Amino acid sequence: MGSFQGVSAEEYARFMGRFSTPLAVPFAAAGLDGIASDARVLDVGCGPGMLTTELVRRRGAAAVSAVDPEPVFVAATAGSFPGVDTRVAGAEDLPFEAGEFGAALAQLVVHFMADPVRGVSEMARVTASGGRVSACVWDHGGGGGPLSGFWRVAQRLDPTARGEASLQGASEGQLVEIFERAGLADVTQQVIESTVAFEDFDDWWQPFLFGVGPAGRYVATLDEAGVARLERALRDELGDGAFSITARAWTAVGVVA
Ligand SMILES: C[S@@+](CC[C@H](N)C(=O)[O-])C[C@H]1O[C@@H](n2cnc3c(N)ncnc32)[C@H](O)[C@@H]1O
Repeated sequence: MGSFQGVSAEEYARFMGRFSTPLAVPFAAAGLDGIASDARVLDVGCGPGMLTTELVRRRGAAAVSAVDPEPVFVAATAGSFPGVDTRVAGAEDLPFEAGEFGAALAQLVVHFMADPVRGVSEMARVTASGGRVSACVWDHGGGGGPLSGFWRVAQRLDPTARGEASLQGASEGQLVEIFERAGLADVTQQVIESTVAFEDFDDWWQPFLFGVGPAGRYVATLDEAGVARLERALRDELGDGAFSITARAWTAVGVVA
């Protein structure tokens, strides 16, 4: 089962959307820099529309296409933006002609692709010559992702917990390598940071119980005592007051030859 199957748009928004919504602002800026104002733009792995929102704000709904393999997420994006061309599809087999877009962007998606080089190659295929392909993935590998604190404690209690550090694209330089293998030119790496504030521990912790993504799926495998033990250890670490998390994402931008 995929990490997002059976997850509602609301659950996603509360768990990861709170991080990906602010991330979308600088990421869209990087991905659209220098792209003609009348070019079409593509959001790959749109989820319930966090990056789509920013692309629509910048370019208007009629210029945006958005795809995701999860029908529930695509329906949520279509509901929010009826003018956006939304489709159920994975990156590895995009339902578009060659060169339709001026830019293709994938926010927090490459590490979930079954075949990242093929997915990024497809993004390059549907982007016109001179256009931009960009992707970002949280720094799970370097411990700078928004869930890194969670995984540190979970793995201390349970060394068999896999975490997300070994996912493709989640460590320095990996996205660049994937982009170059996909045939993109002038590939550069950037680091984008985003900060999210939490009212208290429960504001941060409750969405981990929704079963969203690898972290939520991991919590769902624990029995009641295991969840309570994990919650206690995390609460000891984070305290009960307000706090904020600054997370960084590896970002690669490449040009279509
Ligand atoms: C962490 S979410 C990111 C969603 C959104 N881009 C955001 O920034 O909030 C990862 C998304 O990638 C989608 N996904 C998983 N495998 C994919 C693939 N092979 N191609 C495209 N999207 C995929 C999931 O369904 C999910 O919506």
